[in-house]
Amino acid sequence: MNERAQANAGGTDLAAFWMPFTNNRQFKSAPRLLASAKGMYYTSHDGRRILDGTAGLWCVNAGHCRDEIVAAVQAQAAEMDFAPTFQMGHPKAFEAATKIARHTPEDLKHIFFVNSGSEAVDTALKIALAYHRSRGEGQRTRFIGRERGYHGVGFGGISVGGIAPNRKAFSGGLLPAVDHLPHTLNIKEAAFSKGQPKWGAHLADELERLVTLHDASTIAAVIVEPVASSTGVLIPPEGYLQRLRQICDRHGILLIFDEVITGWGRLGAPFAAQYFGVTPDLLTMAKGTNNAAAPMGAVAASTRVHDSIINGAPAGIELFHGYTYSGHPIAAAAACATIDLYEREGLFERAARMAPVFENAIHKLRDARHVIDVRNLGLVGGVELAPRDGAPGTRAYDVFVRCYEKGVLTRYTGDILAFSPPLIVEEEQIEQIFKTVGEVLKETE
Ligand SMILES: Cc1ncc(COP(=O)(O)O)c(C=O)c1O
Repeated sequence: MNERAQANAGGTDLAAFWMPFTNNRQFKSAPRLLASAKGMYYTSHDGRRILDGTAGLWCVNAGHCRDEIVAAVQAQAAEMDFAPTFQMGHPKAFEAATKIARHTPEDLKHIFFVNSGSEAVDTALKIALAYHRSRGEGQRTRFIGRERGYHGVGFGGISVGGIAPNRKAFSGGLLPAVDHLPHTLNIKEAAFSKGQPKWGAHLADELERLVTLHDASTIAAVIVEPVASSTGVLIPPEGYLQRLRQICDRHGILLIFDEVITGWGRLGAPFAAQYFGVTPDLLTMAKGTNNAAAPMGAVAASTRVHDSIINGAPAGIELFHGYTYSGHPIAAAAACATIDLYEREGLFERAARMAPVFENAIHKLRDARHVIDVRNLGLVGGVELAPRDGAPGTRAYDVFVRCYEKGVLTRYTGDILAFSPPLIVEEEQIEQIFKTVGEVLKETE
């Protein structure tokens, strides 16, 4: 298999790299390698142009290899490759935090840097514990996540996450005090909703049930993705997030929005918090923070949470947490250039303007073969297919591969196709993405 695969990959030896979240055996027998990228397009290793319908992995929001970001990364790498941020500092990290805080909602202006979405989630959970401890409520240690939530792969993230295979594989290492809300997808009630479904706000009331069960005095925080994206684009019902906020307030529970995907313009506002008009106490981000030019994530904390921890701590380090690469100079330089670009080009407003075009185009798949639901919000969309008998997931995988062969990059999870193009996407490119998917669905058994 190795020699043939190597030949398929243009001579690249595929053996040593144990690929993440990949069917390694399948991939290495039929590899798909991306060799370069610019704007809306990748170029595959065999020289084909691939229209990026997914912004890489929901992260390259400004489009690929933007000149300003490339220049900032190159300049920073030459000026200073690394500097610690433990009891030391460097200007770019402070500058990046200030620029990020220009866009975070309300008073969530205190930025803790990490290197990924997973780290952002685990950091937010720790900050929630530290906050309650700082107020003399250290017994609040329980977290409430949600079924079908994805919060990365740290032990905290998989504990509050609601993905069965993730939890099954690592069940021995999950956090002990976690419960879950039900997810909000109901195809029977809300199939083919354009934007937010009207049905389902009452599902937030399940939080009251969990509060009764566990008692509010044991619950530190609720964590949800405003739009659950990785598990198949689950759009929150109208009024749902508002209700979660009210219940958290009633019981002194922190609300954490995991905005690793919804952050940085995906919905046509800086963050989903502003889009929905619901402000969490802690907000995680990663991906689009620096257009994925270098690993970076962050947690934005409210003044109440930040000040309680900082002012309530005895002399010394207030929060015993951090990563060697927190605020890495190259990642920070990329973030500064990215945020300047978002502002200069008005990319969040652009996403809002393109959202109706995107909605119109994706819903044309409503009557396509195998399609049982289409859902969308901002520049994120999902198309759910009926699974093949006895072989769930294989139909969407086949569509994904065929689209790639036809020059369009999509994503799939289970039998759901997901779309999240860079915010610079043009109308014709949106049409091309969904036209290609429609053609492929026609050919797919
Ligand atoms: C909502 C959410 N949280 C966390 C993560 C994990 O991010 P990372 O893969 O950077 O660790 C993801 C990744 O897709 C995500 O969608």
